[in-house]
Amino acid sequence: MARVAYVNGRYLTHRRAAVHIEDRGYQFGDGVYEVVTVLAGHMVDEAPHLDRLERSLASIEIALPMSRRALQLIGRELLRKNKVVNGLLYIQVTRGVAPRDHRFPENVRPALVMTTKHIDFAAQPKFEMGVRVIMIPDQRWARRDIKSIGLLPNCLGKQRAAEAGAYEAWQVDADGLVTEGTSSNAWIVTADGRLVTRPLGSEILHGVTRRAILAIAAGEGVAFEERPFSVDEAKHAAEAFVTSATSFVTPVVQIDDTPLGDGTPGPVSRRLLEWYRDYMVGGRNVD
Ligand code: PDD
Repeated sequence: MARVAYVNGRYLTHRRAAVHIEDRGYQFGDGVYEVVTVLAGHMVDEAPHLDRLERSLASIEIALPMSRRALQLIGRELLRKNKVVNGLLYIQVTRGVAPRDHRFPENVRPALVMTTKHIDFAAQPKFEMGVRVIMIPDQRWARRDIKSIGLLPNCLGKQRAAEAGAYEAWQVDADGLVTEGTSSNAWIVTADGRLVTRPLGSEILHGVTRRAILAIAAGEGVAFEERPFSVDEAKHAAEAFVTSATSFVTPVVQIDDTPLGDGTPGPVSRRLLEWYRDYMVGGRNVD
């Protein structure tokens, strides 16, 4: 079955789906995006993803291309057309098409693209085996809270991780403190079982999964601290894990060349993954 994409008002097969060469997303990275998990036919935390899309757009002065309701309906229709039960919905909004000029064009309509992907979340050894992360310098811009499509430093970092045989690269700021992964938030667990993750600010993306995990932890009585942690603290942590729409809670068992604990996923990470799976299938939203 040919994959179908939504492109500026039309549902097209991928072979025919295309955007203009002067789309500002293509030329300047002038746009934002969202990735929403689809599990058992339902979008996980759809509302906070749309909230973040609206925030990202407002931060760069692009209007929401249509009502929230219309975006939701198109997303659902695209998932239906592509028969996605488990996978993801990708939403991208760019400033639109205009002759190349750094200044914002006037009277241009934002461009909206949505695509979907099938993912077999069950067949992923990373959840049971855990993964390795490497540390790299954070070379990104100062507004990492905006989910910009300009992901060059993230791609370079992820490629370095892949070449090192690692799953993710944790980015480290000028003070030696971990910001986040290239496409996930970073967490450690202290010896006394407290979760630690960087506080919200412009240094990290405000992960929707991060938000859910904090709410789950609060509900289950797991202590947490939103504070930065250093590379050294991470390497001496009892456990570590990453969170994102596609990683859920993925245990980290090695940082650079340092194994964590006994080198297998720790009990806190495993329990959080179970709780998060229940949360996703339960369709509960944290509001
Ligand atoms: N990435 N930090 C960064 C830099 C990210 O790109 C992402 C998500 C996250 C986690 O956010 P969330 O929990 O809302 O998925 C943190 C998506 C999955 C991507 O780029 O594919």
